[in-house]
Amino acid sequence: MSPRQHGLQAVLGPLSRAAVFTVATVRPGAAARDAVRALCGDLPALLRTVGFRSMDGRLSCVLGFGADAWDRLFDLPRPAMLRPMPEVRGVHYAPSTPGDLLLHLRAERMDLCFELAALVMERLSGALAAVDEVHGFRYFDARDLLGFVDGTENPDDEDLAAASVLVGEEDPVFAGGSYVTVQKYVHDLTAWNALPVEHQERVIGRTKLGNVELDDQTKPPWAHNALTVIEEDGRELKILRDNMPFGNAAAGEFGTYFIGYSRTPDTIDRMMTNMFAGDPPGTYDRILDFSTALTGSSYFVPAPALLDRLAEAAEETEETGAGALEIGSLKGVPQT
Ligand code: HEM
Repeated sequence: MSPRQHGLQAVLGPLSRAAVFTVATVRPGAAARDAVRALCGDLPALLRTVGFRSMDGRLSCVLGFGADAWDRLFDLPRPAMLRPMPEVRGVHYAPSTPGDLLLHLRAERMDLCFELAALVMERLSGALAAVDEVHGFRYFDARDLLGFVDGTENPDDEDLAAASVLVGEEDPVFAGGSYVTVQKYVHDLTAWNALPVEHQERVIGRTKLGNVELDDQTKPPWAHNALTVIEEDGRELKILRDNMPFGNAAAGEFGTYFIGYSRTPDTIDRMMTNMFAGDPPGTYDRILDFSTALTGSSYFVPAPALLDRLAEAAEETEETGAGALEIGSLKGVPQT
């Protein structure tokens, strides 16, 4: 069984009941760099350590690297499309916020996610400055806290999902990897819940109770699912989302943690521009009148074999004292 099936870098993994999303920056200096490089090699064992304790907990783990971190950590050419998430200043604002590492942990139980997050943080103690950690939970029948079923139009066919999400021959050294963008949103639920349900349904573009897509006559051009459907040459460009609700009822915090995987971050950038600036400009996503994006960052997720090779190459350069990893040494790594 390949490491991917075990849940390492499981970008295509099934939706889960619980998730932890951790964003951190890597401190300057060689010690922090070496600790993160070493983690690339240790992650499979840490995942087994926790996952083996509950086989039916289906623990999986994704580690992604931001653009600046990639340059500092690996001294290698970047994956072709890796760059910081562009901010969008439109009718609403999508900020681009710091993030060198993203950890996306999924399981059927929160304790598994939490345990793995704690072990990873222990390994990286002193090397990271935490930006944010969000604990997401599945809410009834996969609803967001706005009350709508979230995730229906994800690609359900395995081949389509892989083709939509995994880098291919366009960037051979990084084939099998994926790009991922995250954003933390908080909702004004008092204002949202004051809207008539029919209006909410036009904002999302689906019915609330039955989750049926509105027909073209009823769906406005500013509906969420009108602005996030991107077509190129008559073909729809799909992404894979695993949004999770989070919150703190006592503090009045109600949120959605957006996470989208894609073969190129361009697809998500275009959706974001449509949502925040509008398509055409001004025809923006009304979800944003009730939801504020607090963070936004993008990462590259190396395939398991490349993650392993990055760790080995780092060890070799430490032993030989050579400065940089060599891209040539990564060629021909089987990308599964
Ligand atoms: C407050 C944040 C968000 C909420 C609450 C939210 C909620 C939803 C809901 C309820 C649906 C309809 C059901 C489904 O197909 O999943 C949906 C669809 C979708 N959303 Fe979001 N979403 C959010 C942010 C985003 C962002 C930031 C993007 C991309 C940049 C995005 C991309 C999509 C896409 C591609 C679809 C499927 C459209 C289709 O094919 O019909 N969403 N979202």
